[in-house]
Amino acid sequence: ADTKVYRASTTAPVNIAVVKYWGKRDTKLNLPTNSSLSVTLSQADLRTLTTASCSAAFAHGDTLTLNGEPSDVAGPRTQACFRELRARRAALEAADPSLPKLSSMALSIVSENNFPTAAGLASSAAGFAAFVQAIANLYELPDSPSQLSIIARQGSGSACRSLFGGYVAWRAGDKQDGSDSMADLVAPASHWPNMRALILVASAAKKGVSSTAGMQQTVATSGLFQHRVASVPASMVAMEQAIKQRDFAVFAEVTMRESNSFHACCADTYPPIFYMNDVSRAAIRAVEAINAAAGKTVAAYTFDAGPNCVVYYLDEDAAAILGAFSAVLGGVTGWKYGSAGTVSSVKLDG
Ligand code: PMV
Repeated sequence: ADTKVYRASTTAPVNIAVVKYWGKRDTKLNLPTNSSLSVTLSQADLRTLTTASCSAAFAHGDTLTLNGEPSDVAGPRTQACFRELRARRAALEAADPSLPKLSSMALSIVSENNFPTAAGLASSAAGFAAFVQAIANLYELPDSPSQLSIIARQGSGSACRSLFGGYVAWRAGDKQDGSDSMADLVAPASHWPNMRALILVASAAKKGVSSTAGMQQTVATSGLFQHRVASVPASMVAMEQAIKQRDFAVFAEVTMRESNSFHACCADTYPPIFYMNDVSRAAIRAVEAINAAAGKTVAAYTFDAGPNCVVYYLDEDAAAILGAFSAVLGGVTGWKYGSAGTVSSVKLDG
């Protein structure tokens, strides 16, 4: 009998959206109400490393270890990823009987972030992307990154954008089965090599309202949300064009308006959801002050489902931006500016 342990590893990057995914039109398949677009952060700074192994000799069912701790695999999202990947491997095995029957073996997945999971930075995107890519590598699937993004999307929506580096769009699609709701590459990072991201950790606390619950409440109770959904296609067009033309001012304006629009919808839910705090708002004012002092837009803020701020800027403005943040926010309680791992300026990936 085949008692060999088969193994493959991969890493996946974190992505931060500049056009936000917020709202599901299908909660089971993680189909979004609108398309979104993200920028990939450097894997030297933030990444998930995942090893997938399988063996007929494993005396357990599928297991998942996250940062050294056993983690539940019974959730429907994780199960959907296992099921889809196994089905693809089983199809290869059916077509070529000489292949080892990996699809019927238990899987052991070991995953590790090189950044503190508790830092409140989006980790599910890199996590599910690495999970899917590692198993796809183990199974030697011929699927393209876009095809794998359809599977990762079912783990966590934003994960579909972490199958690529650089500037990545997630096309909402309109099919009911989700077969056209996938990610594609808008431009590699090398297209705009001087783009940078500054991460300001306002709070390391775990987020109060999960993205799934927040989206559900927004779709169900916010009137403003319909207006937002109608406005996203124009933001996608403007953002893609800004990236293609390396137009930072337009990139920045769409990024900030998009973040504002998403958080306005959260405040418009009933009861309201507040992801940003006083420290987040201080960061917004700091970006506005930096841009006013520069006489042009050199910095753009964005916030996800938590208080931490990501600031996009160009490398030539690094001194002004990093200096201004230390001056403006250095004294604000809540910012741990300068201490290891809480504020970092990262390059972009892919
Ligand atoms: O992928 P999820 O379910 O964790 O949702 C992510 C939602 C935001 O981070 C707020 C926006 C985005 O597009 O990443």
